[in-house]
Amino acid sequence: NNKKRVFSGVQPTGQLHIGNYIGALSLWVENQSKYDNIFCIVDLHALTIPESIEPQYLRKKVREVAALYLACGIDPDKSTIFIQSDIPQHSELTWLLNCVTPIGWLERMTQFKSKSKKLNSVGTGLFDYPVLMASDILLYKTDLVPVGEDQKQHIEITRDIAQRFNNLYGNVLKIPEELIRKSGARIMGFDDPEAKMSKSADEMKNKHAVGLLDSPDEIRDTIMSATTDSNRETRFEHASPGIKNMLTLYQALTKQSRKEIEEHFSDGKYGKLKKELAEVVIETLKPIQQKYNRIINDNSYLDQILNDGKERAAETAENTMNEVKKSMGL
Ligand code: ADP
Ligand code: NA
Repeated sequence: NNKKRVFSGVQPTGQLHIGNYIGALSLWVENQSKYDNIFCIVDLHALTIPESIEPQYLRKKVREVAALYLACGIDPDKSTIFIQSDIPQHSELTWLLNCVTPIGWLERMTQFKSKSKKLNSVGTGLFDYPVLMASDILLYKTDLVPVGEDQKQHIEITRDIAQRFNNLYGNVLKIPEELIRKSGARIMGFDDPEAKMSKSADEMKNKHAVGLLDSPDEIRDTIMSATTDSNRETRFEHASPGIKNMLTLYQALTKQSRKEIEEHFSDGKYGKLKKELAEVVIETLKPIQQKYNRIINDNSYLDQILNDGKERAAETAENTMNEVKKSMGL
């Protein structure tokens, strides 16, 4: 098998939203046949802000995310789906990579800076999040990591950590590359087009995001109340951030060209753009929600997929761990 290896994941926190779908999940599905894919549900990452998640809720969320992967089109015959905490090597490799990661590299991470600013007490795990993410990726000798733009800096530090490890211990780790959409890699909040759409913000703010499981009425409600302006400007390069965000969503979901879209909305009526975008989102999510509802109620099917994924992931993880430990003298 000489297909390139793809690895990516989503945190089982909050409600998966249309930004996660466009920036990550739909990209995974589009490229699924081309690559050898591993998709993880990163529950250890969800613990980095422990106040934000109850144990019972976490367990339920993990299954929800797994069902959403499948509902969005991840095919278990083409892709391995597993839960991060089922493979102990993620934590084990994190310790070893911690020992080769200068703290200055972690202090520069913009996600850490913005997340920690909002907390009274910052856990060491939040600081170390990028090393856990590097371990996730490096454990599977990953070639490509398909993610949204917010993860770009974390892929860069992963490459730096792998390089440093290889310089110290020999050529053990594969240096991965990011796979990021040219358009749609950073969907903004409907309420605030200056802020990235995110699961955690959705829990605090009304009408920030469209969740993948939102009803048609909720979707219409959120999109119709999106922030606009009074310019009547619907060209991608000239539109204000809120309008550009909606045009970008429309483009990602309809696959029409920018030119076609600009012509279609050339009368500058934002109400029309919002209405049509809402219907496109509803139509996109309808089959996903139907499939999700079947899968989430089929516990034995979901268990079987996750067990299967665990067995497949374990084999590669064990092999890499053995090489890593041997190279370090362990
Ligand atoms: P969130 O940032 O919403 O809490 P995660 O950190 O679990 O979600 O990210 C899951 C995937 O979705 C990552 O690849 C991330 O880059 C991508 N992603 C998150 N938010 C967006 C967004 N607003 N636009 C595009 N991609 C996104
Ligand atoms: Na994120």
